[in-house]
Order: sequence, then structure tokens, then C-alpha cells
Amino acid sequence: MDQRIAPNQAAHRYCSPESALDVRTRDRLGQADVVWLAGSAAQATQQPDLSCVIAGVRLRNPFVLASGILGNDAALLERCGEAGAGAVTSKSCGPTPRRGHPNPTVLDWGPGLLNAVGLPNPGARAQAEMLRSARVRLQPLGSVLVASIFADTVANFAEVAGIICEAGPDLLELNISCPNVAHEFGQPFAASATDAAAVTEAVKRVATCPVIVKLAPNVPDIGQIARAVEAGGADAICAVNTMPGMAIDVFSGRPILANRSGGISGPPLKAIAVRAVYEITAAVDLPVIGTGGVTCGLDAAEMIMAGATAVGLGTAVYYRGTEVFGQVEAELREFMVGQGYRNLAEMRGIAHE
Ligand SMILES: Cc1cc2nc3c(=O)[nH]c(=O)nc-3n(C[C@H](O)[C@H](O)[C@H](O)COP(=O)(O)O)c2cc1C
Repeated sequence: MDQRIAPNQAAHRYCSPESALDVRTRDRLGQADVVWLAGSAAQATQQPDLSCVIAGVRLRNPFVLASGILGNDAALLERCGEAGAGAVTSKSCGPTPRRGHPNPTVLDWGPGLLNAVGLPNPGARAQAEMLRSARVRLQPLGSVLVASIFADTVANFAEVAGIICEAGPDLLELNISCPNVAHEFGQPFAASATDAAAVTEAVKRVATCPVIVKLAPNVPDIGQIARAVEAGGADAICAVNTMPGMAIDVFSGRPILANRSGGISGPPLKAIAVRAVYEITAAVDLPVIGTGGVTCGLDAAEMIMAGATAVGLGTAVYYRGTEVFGQVEAELREFMVGQGYRNLAEMRGIAHE
């Protein structure tokens, strides 16, 4: 039988009450009238199974540290593994070392973050060393390592992929969607089905592990881009990267970020990301890591109901610390028990029905 739960009660139950984030989440959900939650508490007889499989790689739970959130350090990735992350994604790395953009690079504008960090990284060779160390630290914890890469050309993408695969990551993620380097690199590869497929094909020729392609939210038809990368050989999709945005200091009349514009992340991105995941999973059969604005267990359930196989956490780590992984897992588990879901497959994609 269906249960009707007032959204503010639901958020209160599935988010720890003491964090500032939870106040935001309650306020946010409280703006709606009611939400309908399927199932019955009576159906729950045992702990739900939260494991999932991305391109043949098993994750103990669906929560994945999103790329770029914690810098580029093996110890920080390890901390997320210790906190319970199913997988951790390294900061995107390119062919050669980059300093990134000057400060200010990140702004907490209230509802979410705006960033234009500019892809600082030590270059592919040094990154491969860091990833080797991260892999050794993460393996005993049962956390999967995803290595993220970017490049300015298709050929350089393939070159970086070859170097990074030598470090033995479980999965390789192609960041073809960073919105903050357009003045250097031109429009992101993710803006064009042809370009997105070309990068995917070139990397697939050299990659020794499954390849995830990370898409941009600001395209007219994300299903078309998803079909193109599927045709190019992608094993999975991550959706989405940040959404371009800008903030202006009205007293100086100047944009706040040194790069002028940046990428919006956190709660304002969630509805955009949920829709993107829904459109992609309607268009292709690939597993999707639903990323964008997920900050609590209910958000994760929503992403999975849109069709996601796993769920990325980025800005939520800024709000709730690395402990967010264990907390969100507990919140999702409690929701599933309450609603009678025994595993993620029973929830996955039900919004399509
Ligand atoms: C400070 C910051 C740096 C980021 N750096 C990267 C990056 O290097 N590569 C990448 O693919 N995405 C990067 N992202 C995007 C995130 O991985 C994620 O797609 C986005 O923030 C949306 O998820 P969220 O709302 O959970 O944060 C970055 C985001 C932030 C906030």
C-alpha cells in the first residue's frame, strides 16, 4: 500500500538533524505540498543490498566521490574510502602540469557552489604515481578507484588515457564537459555528438579498463550525446558536470570569480541532473553515475529512481565532510527499509514506468 509522507518529515528522518545542510534540505523539500513514497514498512524484513555494478566493476554501495572535490591527494581519496565511499574519483588530470585559474576560484553563494578552478593538475605522469598510491590504499578498504582525465585534443585524450591506465585504476572517466576552460580549449567535446564520440573511440582503443564518459548538462538533447558515446564504445556515463553560471559583486560591479564565470554545483543542480539521468537512461542501456546536487539519502533515491546505477557526491562533501558517505548510505538504507525495497534494482528507473 502507498504511504503519504510530508516531505519535511521525510527529510528529517533521512538526514541527520544537526547539520546545517539538513536545514537547507528540509526547507527545500518543505516547499512542496506532499511527496508520495511507494511501498510499505511491513515489507522490510532484512537489510537491503546497496551494492551495484558499473561496467562489470562491483561497488559495495552506490556512492561515488565526484571528481575534483577533494583536490589531488591519495590520502584524501583514502579518507573517503575509510568513510565508506563505494568508489572515489580523482581530480581530472591532463597531459602536462597546469596551475589552474587564479583566485577566487570557488564561491559559496548560498544555494550552492560556483567554481572555476581551471583544472589544476600535476600532469599525467605525476598523476599516475599518485593513482598507484591511491590504489594500494583503497584496495583493502573495498573502495573502487576511478581516474578522471581531460585533454584539449582527441589525440591528447588517448595519450593521457594510455599513461593513466598504467597505474591500474578500476575505471577511467573522461571529463569532456568542464565548462571553465572554454577560452583555452574551445567548446567542450560534450557539446557535440561527433566530438564526444571521437574522444570516446580514441580512448577506447588504448584503455585497459572500462571507460566512463562525463557529460555536460547544458546541451539541447543529452540523449543524443549519450547515444553518440555509446556508439563510440563507452562502458558507462557520468551525468552531469557543473552548469555554467556567474555571480557579480554589486558593490564593485565585477564578477566575483577571477575567471568571471564558473560552474554551478550542489542543490540548484539536482533537478537538472535528475532530468539528465532520466533522459540518458531512456536513450541508452549504459549504467549512469547520477551526479549533481545529491546531499542526502532521499536525493540519492530520487537519482536512482530516475535511472542511475550509482550516485556521485561532490558539493555534499563540502557541506557534510567526508563522513557524508557513511551518513548518506545510512539514510538511503533507512529509506529503503521503510519503503520495503530490498535492493537498488527494485528502485532503479521506476520513474520511467
Ligand atoms: C571545486 C570543484 C572542482 C571540480 N573539479 C572537477 C574536475 O576536475 N573534473 C570533473 O569532471 N568535474 C569536476 N567538478 C564537477 C563535479 O565532479 C560534479 O560533477 C559537480 O560538482 C556536480 O556534482 P555536485 O552537485 O554533487 O557537486 C568539480 C566541482 C567542484 C565543485
